[in-house]
Amino acid sequence: MRETQRVDKILSNSGFGTRREIKQLVKSGQVKVDGEVIDDSGMHVDPKKSQIEISGQKLNYRQYIYIMMNKPAGVISATFDDRHETVIDILSEEYKCFDLFPVGRLDIDTEGLLLITNDGQLAHEILSPKKYVPKRYFAFIEGEVTQEDVKRFEEGVILEDGYKTLPAELYILDRDVNSSVDVVIYEGKFHQVKRMFEAVGKKVKFLKRVTMGNLVLDKDLAPGEFRELTQDELSNLINEVRSQKENNLN
Ligand code: URA
Repeated sequence: MRETQRVDKILSNSGFGTRREIKQLVKSGQVKVDGEVIDDSGMHVDPKKSQIEISGQKLNYRQYIYIMMNKPAGVISATFDDRHETVIDILSEEYKCFDLFPVGRLDIDTEGLLLITNDGQLAHEILSPKKYVPKRYFAFIEGEVTQEDVKRFEEGVILEDGYKTLPAELYILDRDVNSSVDVVIYEGKFHQVKRMFEAVGKKVKFLKRVTMGNLVLDKDLAPGEFRELTQDELSNLINEVRSQKENNLN
């Protein structure tokens, strides 16, 4: 990974405005690097090694941002879209300059845990099919989910395109004409949970992701709300994903 970055990128990532605004700050002599006033906003510096000052204020640089969102229905898991609001659109202004993106996708009508970051390496590791990061969903199902379905999920279900899923865990919480279930999958195929239930003749009416690896959706976040991960949540997630790698290599 490159250690040096343009000063205007560092400052815009830190919430000091657009690149154009930062250019103005630099031109007006308000930006110093290691005590020296700079005149080029495209200058490369290593923010971990160099001290940047803006109008006499020392920059506390943060390269990576990690946000937990309770994704609401009706919003899409993308960075940009012509027709729909995206999960990036609903973040607050302070995060708009960080080049954030969602780690994986939830369908437009799916709610729940979504990690949003600018850490491409961690995102890549979490999404890698070789890592088998477990994802737990709560689902409301039209129809009565049975022990036979539990068994079929356990064995892997054949989807309509012929793909056989990895074994998944299905827990029946409540069942009648409709059922409430928890389902844990270890991969992330397109519409996977919905297609797994279709494969056993049932329809998902509501879907909400509650965990991804050891990261658990904060119950205090209403749909549409978000917060940064705590240090513990982040290091536990990184440790889990990285130790998974060792497991698979053994
Ligand atoms: N499975 C689905 O069918 N949809 C999602 O959004 C996530 C998992």
